[in-house]
Amino acid sequence: MSAKTGSVTLGGKTVEMPVKSGSIGPDVIDISKLYAQTGAFTFDPGFTSTASCESGITYIDGDEGVLLHRGFPIDQLAEHGDFLETCYLLLYGELPTAAQKQDFDYRVTRHTMVHEQMARFFQGFRRDAHPMAVMVAAVGALAAFYHDSTDISDPQQRMIASMRMIAKVPTLAAMAYKYTIGQPFVYPKNSLDYTANFLNMCFAVPCEDYKINPVLARALDRIFILHADHEQNASTSTVRLAGSSGANPFACIAAGIACLWGPAHGGANEAALKMLSEIGTVDRIPEFVKKAKDKNDPFRLMGFGHRVYKNYDPRAKIMQKTCHEVLAELGVKDEPLLEVAIELERIALSDEYFIEKKLYPNVDFYSGITLKAMGFPTSMFTVLFAVARTVGWIAQWKEMIEDPTQKIGRPRQLYTGAPKRDYVPVSKR
Ligand code: CMC
Repeated sequence: MSAKTGSVTLGGKTVEMPVKSGSIGPDVIDISKLYAQTGAFTFDPGFTSTASCESGITYIDGDEGVLLHRGFPIDQLAEHGDFLETCYLLLYGELPTAAQKQDFDYRVTRHTMVHEQMARFFQGFRRDAHPMAVMVAAVGALAAFYHDSTDISDPQQRMIASMRMIAKVPTLAAMAYKYTIGQPFVYPKNSLDYTANFLNMCFAVPCEDYKINPVLARALDRIFILHADHEQNASTSTVRLAGSSGANPFACIAAGIACLWGPAHGGANEAALKMLSEIGTVDRIPEFVKKAKDKNDPFRLMGFGHRVYKNYDPRAKIMQKTCHEVLAELGVKDEPLLEVAIELERIALSDEYFIEKKLYPNVDFYSGITLKAMGFPTSMFTVLFAVARTVGWIAQWKEMIEDPTQKIGRPRQLYTGAPKRDYVPVSKR
């Protein structure tokens, strides 16, 4: 037992519980024996005070606005590295050597094509389907195409499934986009790096050459780095919970994509851009800020606030810089949405309500404007988030499967329904 303990006194009986310490961050009280010892559960809807697992992948200090992957600050990774290097880091725990990087990039590149039958699978969808709906189905369907990497007890198959998803999710995302706009699918091109290949699959057409803009490719790569992992958020916890039953990794990632779709999570960048468009002009900002502060109005400023960050989201700072770089490269001057965004940020950050509740812009606040300028429609924003987060989900899923103490996830409840009662035949009701 660890030296530190916590205790709970219930009905006059006191039980001691071990306290575990991580390498950094808050201690946790190990309550796993609480029910056996007291007959009581803990109650924490939304998991605001509950650590659901041990993990060595990502660390967030929300009060200080710190995000570390395997110990490395997000700003250093985004500034100096590329997305596949971050993928390697998340999966293997260390930054790759030059030879390891070359080998990893090569292995990912060799898995970018999807089974040709997948193209037929897409034809079943309506053209106006939301691409996230298509992604949930297409990624789940990978399990039907790659049976040889669904045995989760085999480390080799786990790694192949991981590589396949990092490589194929962008291909499926680009196909989902092409399908909605009625253009032919563009096959992956192995001579291009990961992000340039993705841009090519999205924007190339057979009738003319598509020239990759390196500034845009670098910006998108950085957006992917910023979204690669974020410890035990809703979609990652969904992936872990789905995986805890032994479900195959493709099904687990599809579950993560479904969760990410919600506007309180990955759908926020789409919602933030819609909100900026709705505000439209700087003079209307006070009206929207007033609505956000009104307790009787469900409206919230999208792109503001975070469950964990009670300081400026460190990703938002990099995103803001990337946004300016992209707009400058594309020669977008006087972008009205950017003007609204900057002014909204200024007003909100000096407003007592937002200061008191520690509501700062999050990563989604500037990503929508950036992606729009690059030519992506709003419906694709969350899809791009899913492309980037796939590696985080996989790294977390692998860590869980490889933990010898892993159990099926099975929360308990506080039951508030009817107590036991007898069935009454319909004639007597
Ligand atoms: N606008 C106005 N008020 C807000 C906002 C907002 N965006 N966010 C939180 N509040 C208020 C909320 O009304 C509550 O007030 P009170 O204490 O008076 O009831 C207080 O702040 C705490 O809010 P909460 O809902 O209890 O906090 P939470 O940790 O459960 O929610 C959140 C976090 C991200 C869901 C929420 O801030 C939100 O809905 N933000 C807008 C959506 C958004 O931008 N989401 C993207 C998150 S970052 C991307 C990702 O990691 O997925």
